[in-house]
Amino acid sequence: MKHKKKILITGGSRGLGLALAKRYDELGADVSVTARDASQLASALEGTNIRGIVSDISEKRSIYPLAARVVDDMGGLDILINNAGYLGVTPLRLLADTDCEDLNALWTTNVLGPFRLIKALLPTLEKSPEGLVVNISSDAAVSAYETWGGYSISKAALDHMTRLFQQEHKRTSLKFIAVDPGDMLTDMYRAAIPDADTSQLRRPEQVADELERFLSQQAFPEIRCGSQQWRELL
Ligand SMILES: NC(=O)c1ccc[n+]([C@@H]2O[C@H](COP(=O)([O-])OP(=O)(O)OC[C@H]3O[C@@H](n4cnc5c(N)ncnc54)[C@H](OP(=O)(O)O)[C@@H]3O)[C@@H](O)[C@H]2O)c1
Repeated sequence: MKHKKKILITGGSRGLGLALAKRYDELGADVSVTARDASQLASALEGTNIRGIVSDISEKRSIYPLAARVVDDMGGLDILINNAGYLGVTPLRLLADTDCEDLNALWTTNVLGPFRLIKALLPTLEKSPEGLVVNISSDAAVSAYETWGGYSISKAALDHMTRLFQQEHKRTSLKFIAVDPGDMLTDMYRAAIPDADTSQLRRPEQVADELERFLSQQAFPEIRCGSQQWRELL
């Protein structure tokens, strides 16, 4: 890493978000992460230089205070990683059996949260010559898996939102990318498929290491990258 990058990662108390934050911290970046559970966040960040901010990205009123805090703490921002995600009520159910309230919760966490945070931080990100917004997607955004409906819809919307933001910034240095990290052994995966054989699953630390290398590249093959696609470039 050439200079001290300023990075915000949502959902940084466990899983991929925590692993990514620790990877960037090891590389000397200035890293802030968010999560809702204050005690889990504090214990996850012990022994690191990572700044923890308790914030719920699905809550409209929490977004501007979060953005203001990030700018105050770090004096700018180079990379925003919208990683926090909601799977939906488990066991996962058919779309026809999905409550509208749950679809609404999926929408507010997986789409509106990133949208509001991007909007709130755009003026700051646009000032960075290396500005980058990474939206963490899923293969469920492109494949129609039975019972993953609400989550799939929200991730497909996040992918397309990423394409639109990129299109609208094509004359600026700010880049937008949606990345499917692929399956990983995290709480979310365990909740989705409790009886899965997880022996061959990637650990979030391994994915974080690969993803950091991919994101450090100057150019990306697509605005939305599937998990095979971006790994082939490592
Ligand atoms: N695991 C997989 O196999 C897989 C595959 C494809 C894509 N993904 C995507 O990868 C991303 C990370 O997934 P993961 O498996 O690492 O998830 P995870 O283990 O469930 O961790 C989720 C993190 O997000 C935080 N979070 C959840 N809702 C939040 C909210 N409303 N506001 C702020 N923070 C919130 C959680 O902390 P709190 O609960 O304390 O808020 C936690 O730190 C997600 O976008 C997911 O959709 C995962």
